[in-house]
Amino acid sequence: MACFPGPAGPRPLSGGTSAMWWWVVAALAAWALLGTARAGAVESRPLSPDNLLVITVATSETEGFKRFMRTTKHFNYTVKVLGLGEEWKGGDVAHTVGGGQKVRWLKRELEKYVAKEDLIVMFVDSYDVIFAGPPVELLQKFLHFNHKLVFAAEGFLWPDESLEDLYPTVHTGKPYLNSGGFIGYAPYVSNVVQQWRFKDDDDDQLFYTHVYLDPKLREKYQITLDHRSTIFQNLNGALDEVVLKFERGKARVRNIAQDTLPVVIHGNGPTKLQLNYLGNYIPNAWTHETGCGICDEDLLDLSELQDEDYPVVLIGVFILQPTPFFVEFLEHLVTLDYPHSQLNLFIYNREIYHEKHIQEFWDKHKEDFYNIKVVGPEEEMDEGEARNMGLHECRQDPDCEFYLSLDSDVALTNPATLRILVEHNRNVIAPMVSRHGKLWSNFWGAINAEGYYSRSEDYIDIVQLKRVGIWNVPYISQVYLIKGQVLRNQLRQKNMFTQGEMDPDMIFCRNVRTKGIFMYVTNMDDFGHLLSTANFNTSHLHSDLWQIFTNPEDWREKYIHENYSQIFSNNLVQQPCPDVYWFPILTEEACDQLVQELEHYGQWSGGQHQDTRLSGGYENVPTVDIHMKQVGFEREWLKFLREYIAPVTEKLYPGYYTKAEAVMNFMVRYRPHEQAYLRPHHDSSTFTINIALNRKGVDYEGGGCRFLRYNCSVETPRKGWSLMHPGRLTHFHEGLPTTRGTRYIMVSFVDP
Ligand SMILES: *[C@@H]1O[C@H](CO)[C@@H](O)[C@H](O)[C@H]1NC(C)=O
Ligand SMILES: *[C@@H]1O[C@H](CO)[C@@H](O)[C@H](O)[C@H]1NC(C)=O
Ligand SMILES: *[C@@H]1O[C@H](CO)[C@@H](O)[C@H](O)[C@H]1NC(C)=O
Ligand SMILES: *[C@@H]1O[C@H](CO)[C@@H](O)[C@H](O)[C@H]1NC(C)=O
Repeated sequence: MACFPGPAGPRPLSGGTSAMWWWVVAALAAWALLGTARAGAVESRPLSPDNLLVITVATSETEGFKRFMRTTKHFNYTVKVLGLGEEWKGGDVAHTVGGGQKVRWLKRELEKYVAKEDLIVMFVDSYDVIFAGPPVELLQKFLHFNHKLVFAAEGFLWPDESLEDLYPTVHTGKPYLNSGGFIGYAPYVSNVVQQWRFKDDDDDQLFYTHVYLDPKLREKYQITLDHRSTIFQNLNGALDEVVLKFERGKARVRNIAQDTLPVVIHGNGPTKLQLNYLGNYIPNAWTHETGCGICDEDLLDLSELQDEDYPVVLIGVFILQPTPFFVEFLEHLVTLDYPHSQLNLFIYNREIYHEKHIQEFWDKHKEDFYNIKVVGPEEEMDEGEARNMGLHECRQDPDCEFYLSLDSDVALTNPATLRILVEHNRNVIAPMVSRHGKLWSNFWGAINAEGYYSRSEDYIDIVQLKRVGIWNVPYISQVYLIKGQVLRNQLRQKNMFTQGEMDPDMIFCRNVRTKGIFMYVTNMDDFGHLLSTANFNTSHLHSDLWQIFTNPEDWREKYIHENYSQIFSNNLVQQPCPDVYWFPILTEEACDQLVQELEHYGQWSGGQHQDTRLSGGYENVPTVDIHMKQVGFEREWLKFLREYIAPVTEKLYPGYYTKAEAVMNFMVRYRPHEQAYLRPHHDSSTFTINIALNRKGVDYEGGGCRFLRYNCSVETPRKGWSLMHPGRLTHFHEGLPTTRGTRYIMVSFVDP
């Protein structure tokens, strides 16, 4: 099993063992004299895959085991599994010597085959092994060795470094025996293994090493090592020699140091994550030709279920910083396409700023969910503790079948997300989300020795959807689904997030990895994206309005009219008067928030000619207004002009390229007893936009705009729609009187 180099560990076979070795060696030597003659007949027979038996040991069906079995099935290997459901007494092989129990089980099994001269037996570990090639190839390679028994080789001598001198010199490849894989004629394998007389937690590798290192036995038994990795590739100490290789619709490993294509890949020692990486491809998990070959395995089908039969899910929501578009975040919870009767919420909020949002959410939706629990900022719980608590809420509830952990900077725009994740039926799975157009995502493809981020070769392809599938990765964060059953078993420790000094997420992932649980990330569906929470200034009434730079796509979704793109695709533009265009631009919410924001600011100008806000200090046609500069929104508004108005201008006035510059960007307020209308005037602009911010007949009566040259009026402005007209020369215009209520418009004099 896991045999990795390290400080010389505790010696397993101490005291009287050397005497015992003499006994084993002598017994084997005697048998070998008899055996060579008998086995000699085998060589002339062709080796058929029917005569190949793969034997492995697994006490439980871990994910590593299932992956192993999938690769054996892919190639139609015949596999015998020893030890399933039995208790492991072979020691903690990841950290020290051990593994003797494997030999004991093998010994018992092989008793059946002592006389089967034409049977080839291969023993391999399973949790950290995958097959990369078919039986026929394996047997050909074995024959080519022209030996009776071939062990895997590796570059580290373990567990007894003092045996160094006994090893034969090799000129190429790895010198030392690794017992994680061997293949040989059944009688030979059997008779070697029958000599096992040791304890279950004694070391299996040391046992086989002693046999191999006896020159007499080595020769008589015709034992050799696979120095060049033609069959067995141990990854430990060889990572820079192996590359992933796509060949004729299959993924393989090529050993570039030896130019071989190994059949069995073993993630021995601290190379489990590299094996996980290779296992994402080999042999058919993903290839360029076929895409994902494992993505629809073990699916859970929810389609036929009644609401009350859906698995119960606890959603743990974590609000760790002021987060833009937070109301939308909460809305995504409500619109999840999953029976709400089966959903519980655990909300951890560290931010006082968001308390009002959560209160509103609670008032509106407390009946929607089965149960909602909130931990607020006043409880001063730290992040790690809160995450532990969320997990535990699910762990301790026997009905909780899944736990969805969700941070507030994840915009889960796909309402099917939870359902899709549940259907994947994995122990741990994350939906891939990334920042729009960026390489920043919620998973890492690899980690370095310290456990921090490191970029895997496929990371960019996965984030950019050039490779689509389900990926076993070493680190996930921000949003992931865990099976309750796993929380109650392998992940039952209560300090999953707090055991150590690193960030809670890194601690968590390390713990999951240590337990041998695979963390998958899927990019098979579009689930949503990550928000940037940097530079979020919460001092405004509607702070999301300021997010046009930091989170431009979310800003567009929230504030740009849903039919804006039809201006270009469907020519959704009207021309109510000559060269006056009319088109949808802002959402109702944008209009309302702009008005509220400016009313909140409240410093409306008096409509006087003297105006200290202007460079000349004089306004020829004064209005009651507030400039965007006054509320710190000018930079954002100019960005809006460049992004959303300029393309419309270029479509409507072909050949004119706007710089989208404007010094006059302001909101005008018309009221019957304040300022009801505006006398005829030109604008100091090449063109002007005039966006109606509220609704005629509801918020006010009257209003509108009249172009005198054409005697043409736009009398029923539409909320969220903009007028665009030339500013000087032709379009002398006036604001028509507002007769009731208050009318608001946003105006920009573009290219003055
Ligand atoms: C495995 O066996 C099945 C049926 O026995 C067969 O259809 C398939 O082609 C075989 N696969 C390989 C890789 O030999
Ligand atoms: C946040 O916005 C307020 C109001 O516009 C402003 O006074 C403050 O300087 C801003 N803070 C930061 C960090 O930009
Ligand atoms: C967008 O256009 C469709 C028809 O094309 C219409 O039904 C819908 O109401 C429009 N949306 C808005 C916000 O006006
Ligand atoms: C302008 O149009 C209105 C009707 O739309 C009409 O009553 C009025 O006479 C017109 N004025 C001029 C000067 O043509």
